[in-house]
Amino acid sequence: MEGHKEPLWLRVEGSHCSLSEMDDFDLTRALEKPRQLKIERKRSFDERSMSELSTGYARQDSILEMAHSPGSRSMVDTPLSVRNSFEPHPMVAEAWEALRRSMVFFRGQPVGTIAAYDHASEEVLNYDQVFVRDFVPSALAFLMNGEPDIVKNFLLKTLQLQGWEKRVDRFKLGEGVMPASFKVLHDPVRKTDTIVADFGESAIGRVAPVDSGFWWIILLRAYTKSTADLTLSETPECQRGMRLILSLCLSEGFDTFPTLLCADGCSMVDRRMGVYGYPIEIQALFFMALRCALSMLKPDEEGREFIERIVKRLHALSFHMRSYFWLDFQQLNDIYRYKTEEYSHTAVNKFNVMPDSIPDWVFDFMPLRGGYFVGNVSPARMDFRWFSLGNCVSILSSLATPDQSMAIMDLLEHRWEELVGEMPLKICYPCIESHEWRIVTGCDPKNTRWSYHNGGSWPVLLWTLTAACIKTGRPQIARRAIDLIESRLHRDCWPEYYDGKQGRYVGKQARKYQTWSIAGYLVAKMMLEDPSHIGMISLEEDKQMKPVIKRSASWTC
Ligand code: GLC
Repeated sequence: MEGHKEPLWLRVEGSHCSLSEMDDFDLTRALEKPRQLKIERKRSFDERSMSELSTGYARQDSILEMAHSPGSRSMVDTPLSVRNSFEPHPMVAEAWEALRRSMVFFRGQPVGTIAAYDHASEEVLNYDQVFVRDFVPSALAFLMNGEPDIVKNFLLKTLQLQGWEKRVDRFKLGEGVMPASFKVLHDPVRKTDTIVADFGESAIGRVAPVDSGFWWIILLRAYTKSTADLTLSETPECQRGMRLILSLCLSEGFDTFPTLLCADGCSMVDRRMGVYGYPIEIQALFFMALRCALSMLKPDEEGREFIERIVKRLHALSFHMRSYFWLDFQQLNDIYRYKTEEYSHTAVNKFNVMPDSIPDWVFDFMPLRGGYFVGNVSPARMDFRWFSLGNCVSILSSLATPDQSMAIMDLLEHRWEELVGEMPLKICYPCIESHEWRIVTGCDPKNTRWSYHNGGSWPVLLWTLTAACIKTGRPQIARRAIDLIESRLHRDCWPEYYDGKQGRYVGKQARKYQTWSIAGYLVAKMMLEDPSHIGMISLEEDKQMKPVIKRSASWTC
């Protein structure tokens, strides 16, 4: 096995070539190692432009062209990441063991992984459930290891749950809503298994998980790409499931923006944290799910209309996000000098953002080179906080232009101390405290400064960071992050999150053996080892969609 030799691909430190150059680069290097090659260099279904799709519908089967070769994985019991490495880190084997321990079975079939397997903790809360968002890294780990069955079962089970009638008190939820989580109840006497699911009706704050449906679509594509099994996504049930999710977020209403309006706490940050309105995480997942759905929807009588709506929305959404959510040195300076009270079509400050509302920290935080998508943009409100998941998903989905993707990574490198510190990766930066914390969180004792959702550090975010690093050709950044994780995570029993400005302390109320911390690590390791895995979770830039933002002045400095 040639695994002991560092893949050539990984040796390109600090390269700054464009993403399209990187694509060529990756693939030629990958070709030098035929046993690692799982992506064929053909034009993929994803690469078809949206404008092309709006006119003539391309062949459905082209998704096969980029699919990983399925038959190559036979020894499913031994994790490939253990077999392939010359000297696997001892954590890898332990992580696989812990991941397998977390598997949940329904009538003998694996259908997901439990959120945390923390024996020591007295209160279980809802950590004994299978969360849709938490299962994503587990699913990717299983797919990368050639074990797609659990992923297929999960996709089908959650699809069934989507069909349930959902109510909060006397109010009926939209048909397409996917559950936040579900639990399998085993009756040892009757020998029966039943399922209970939560669509937000028993969650804190009673908020429906907007991200679940998007993750479901993204995972369906990852499964299809990884296995080349088109039969699942093409079933009438899956096609309908996608359409139901899409009708929830593509419906016409009073919106004047193409972004999706949400309540606080409807995604990973599932408590009140001032992420209501148009949070970046949801917008990036929305964009990615739309693109994934586009690659899987059949252009039949029912699908065609959705395809057309998706194409239009993607154009508007990418324009809006790239123009109004993007912040770099130049843009910050422009906002700082904004005039207010501008009416009519000539307004530059379209949302009437008051320059006085720019927080002090952002002036120091912003490097000359680098940038990011801000947390939220709505009338007279820009949330300048940096959120890691939204920015990484923007890179993976190509919502960020190649220049913007590079700038996001530049900023991360530049602000490593603040954003990574001693434990990758901060969920957001900076924290909110004092009066602002009281107003924004409603005095939430779990979300005190630099803890949990309020500037806490979440090991699970390592996989999205690693994927973004690979896509932008900066694997050395991921390596640094993995080194940090390897020095602590196992010793600390795989906590859910860390606290403190540097992320040095195990989180106040963090679960131990949190499954997505475990799976996130495995996915990061497997992707670095075999970067072709990235194809499952990344979408190429649509060359037809012209970037609207030019390089800012910071690029020439
Ligand atoms: C917490 C997190 C949420 C996660 C859940 C289960 O509520 O905020 O994102 O899905 O725990 O791990």
